[in-house]
Amino acid sequence: MDYAVSVRNVTKLFHGTREIIAVDNVSFDVENGSIVGLLGANGAGKTTLIRMMTTLLSPTSGQITVAGYEIGREPQKIREVIGYAGQDTERSLYYRLSPRENAKYFGWLRGLKADTSVRRLDDFAHQIGMEDRLDQHFITLSGGEKQAFVVLRALLHYPKIAFLDEPSKSLDVLIARRVRHLIKEYVHEHNATMVITSHNLKELEDICDKLVFINRGKKVFEGTPQELKQKGMRLESVVVRGGPFDDIIITEFSSIGNITVVNKNTEIRIQSDSPYSAIRQVVDILEKNGVNAFVSMVEPSLEDAFAKIAGDA
Ligand SMILES: Nc1ncnc2c1ncn2[C@@H]1O[C@H](COP(=O)(O)OP(=O)(O)OP(=O)(O)O)[C@@H](O)[C@H]1O
Ligand SMILES: [Mg+2]
Repeated sequence: MDYAVSVRNVTKLFHGTREIIAVDNVSFDVENGSIVGLLGANGAGKTTLIRMMTTLLSPTSGQITVAGYEIGREPQKIREVIGYAGQDTERSLYYRLSPRENAKYFGWLRGLKADTSVRRLDDFAHQIGMEDRLDQHFITLSGGEKQAFVVLRALLHYPKIAFLDEPSKSLDVLIARRVRHLIKEYVHEHNATMVITSHNLKELEDICDKLVFINRGKKVFEGTPQELKQKGMRLESVVVRGGPFDDIIITEFSSIGNITVVNKNTEIRIQSDSPYSAIRQVVDILEKNGVNAFVSMVEPSLEDAFAKIAGDA
């Protein structure tokens, strides 16, 4: 199968005062037409990976192909078909030009006519509610507004594959949601592929077909957001509230899974590999003993899964 991006056993070492393994033997594929999220904490290696995929850095070892081209052999071909929005917003657009003027300039570099660039920018800006910010100097925009325009610029030439490094960094909730919507629409409309980084699980959960979780340079998980959740799910808790529960009931609960007794025996948390069958067992035990209680299941958030996987790695 031809992938939009294929990363094979890629390692990147930085040699400074000490050697840093920024990316450690990472492999994954990005299917055409999909949105893949690189997820990880600060310093995990996301930007280093994205800079290698966009030909801005060379791997120490391993192979990367983008749109069928190898990064070491045909970097120019890759640059022609991709869009890239870097993390360093401040240096990505010309300060003394307005967003419209920037669009004309960067569009021209991509062979677009000025009116095409402006039309596309206007259209994108309208989608995220920033159409009234197009004629002021870039320097006078807020941090979040600058960031949003860096993302829009990366899409001006309608790239087939776009790499967005922290597209929602410093965006407020409303604009971040609109940018996510725009990303999804763009991929759909242009049959495009996106690779997006974030340390914000909520941001990626909604729009990504696949997540690649990087921890200290290593890939620790690859799968759908749902699968990531299910991985954390094994630590799922069934919560029984009521009581106070007596020792006999507590002993029976402890046969289901690991239990934690809190709030002076009025709340019991049961961790089990199969929470759904655990819930049935809990109800059986309660009925048998004629005890009324409130039984619920705490679904782990993606943050919980994140903490668990990062902790296990
Ligand atoms: N040019 C460089 N020289 C030396 N070390 C570097 C360089 N660039 C990155 N690193 C180191 O490589 C590691 C990965 O950095 P990277 O910027 O890829 O992380 P990140 O996941 O993008 O983090 P963030 O969420 O903060 O953007 C870090 O330890 C960082 O200090
Ligand atoms: Mg980064």
